[in-house]
Parts: sequence; C-alpha cells; structure tokens
Amino acid sequence: VIFSDSNRASIKVAEEIAALIRKKQKENKNCVLGLATGSSPIRVYEELVRMHKEEGLTFSNVITFNLDEYLPMEKENRQSYWYFMHEHLFNHIDIPEENIHIPDGTIQGDDVIDYCLAYEKAIKKAGGLDFQLLGIGRTGHVGFNEPGSHYNSGTRVITLDHITRVDAAPAFLGIDNVPRKAITMGIATVRSAKRIVLLGWGENKADIIKKTVEGEISSQVPATYLQEHKNCTFVLDTGAGSQL
Ligand code: GLP
Repeated sequence: VIFSDSNRASIKVAEEIAALIRKKQKENKNCVLGLATGSSPIRVYEELVRMHKEEGLTFSNVITFNLDEYLPMEKENRQSYWYFMHEHLFNHIDIPEENIHIPDGTIQGDDVIDYCLAYEKAIKKAGGLDFQLLGIGRTGHVGFNEPGSHYNSGTRVITLDHITRVDAAPAFLGIDNVPRKAITMGIATVRSAKRIVLLGWGENKADIIKKTVEGEISSQVPATYLQEHKNCTFVLDTGAGSQL
C-alpha cells in the first residue's frame, strides 16, 4: 500500500494495532506484538501514545517482544534499543513492565545460546506473535537478519553487515563505536507472526523495497522471504514506493 505521506500511513498502522488490542481485550486475551526500532516506526508509536492518553486505549493486555538489540549494549546507553523503546513508547503507556521483552545486550559467552532459545520459548508461551511491525535496512535486513540469513533461522547472535554499521554510525558518533554484533529474532520467528506490517519511508529505501517486493526470493535479501507470508503488507510512502 502506497500512501502520499508517512504520517497518514503511520496513523493507519497505529489504528490497525489499536483495533487488534481492543479486539483481544473483548475476547479476554493477551495481544502479542513484535516491535521494531529505527526511525520508521516512531510516528506509529507516537500515535499509539496519543490514543492511550486521549482515547483511553489501554495496553494492560499487551505483551511485546522486540526484534533485536546490539551486542554488547547496556540498557542505560542512549543508543540501546531498550532506551529507544522506553523513550518512544513504554514510558508513556500502561503496559506492565513484566510484559516487555527486549533482547538483553549484556548477555555474554556461552549464555547467549540458552538466552536466545529462552526468548523463542517466551514468544511461544505468550501464544505467538499476533502482529509483527518491521522496518527494513538497506541490506534488506528485517530485525538484524543480514544477507545470508536462513529461512528457518531463530533468535540468535548475528554479525552486522558493514552497510548496517555505516548507517548506524551517526547515532554512535562514528563507525568505530558501532557494535559489531547483535541479537536478533530470526526469519522463522518473524514469519511465525499471524500478521506482518513492514514500514518503508523515503527514496533511500526505494531500491531495497523494489528488490524485496519484485526480486527473486533469496537469502541475499532476507526481506524477500516475506513474499511467502500469507498476511504481510508493505506500507510505503511515495518515495519508498517510487521504483515499483
Ligand atoms: C536497524 C534495525 C531494523 C530497522 C532498520 C532500519 O537496523 N535493527 O529493525 O528496520 O534499522 O531503520 P530505519 O527505520 O531508521 O530506516
């Protein structure tokens, strides 16, 4: 779906998420959301916060799982995805703290494998992802599933692509400060969501959006795996959709 601007598009996506939360509330069920970081979802989160403050949308039945976190990374660090999510969403809504899951960037050594398996188990225990929000990186990554990621990959440690580190460099005040690794949900984890919405804004995403939507499915552009998902929508602005 191509919108004239990202603001209108973000409001539509926020409305879909809010409708799902309310539907689940009526059914007395939890609503399990997979959430993304980066600049793309910021306006969606802002709108959800507004709905909480002005329309009484409650997040008491919402359980969230974030896609990824840099490794190593302390929560308190301003570049952490933990910090980002609290700044843009969690600090402003009524989600119970124990319902928030963000990969722990301080996990080390052999503990990482058990930690990643436990993250997968927690998603399943919560009932699976009802909705997964995604952005897309210039390498075609979703979460941090860089080129080469396997279709059946689960939550794991990944080495970041050079392009991804270049894109992150301004936020870290230089590429040397960008971590080389990350923990990310896998492609299979993302694919397991009942509904997926990928956001793409601006002309600098046009090239990767074209490859992702119209190109051959390939591990070299991991987002192409989404072509096979039964309930996935790309929500774009005219810039990101300009090469389709
Ligand atoms: C990072 C995140 C991705 C995100 C991507 C694009 O690499 N790990 O989840 O989709 O950035 O970011 P932006 O939305 O700022 O373009």
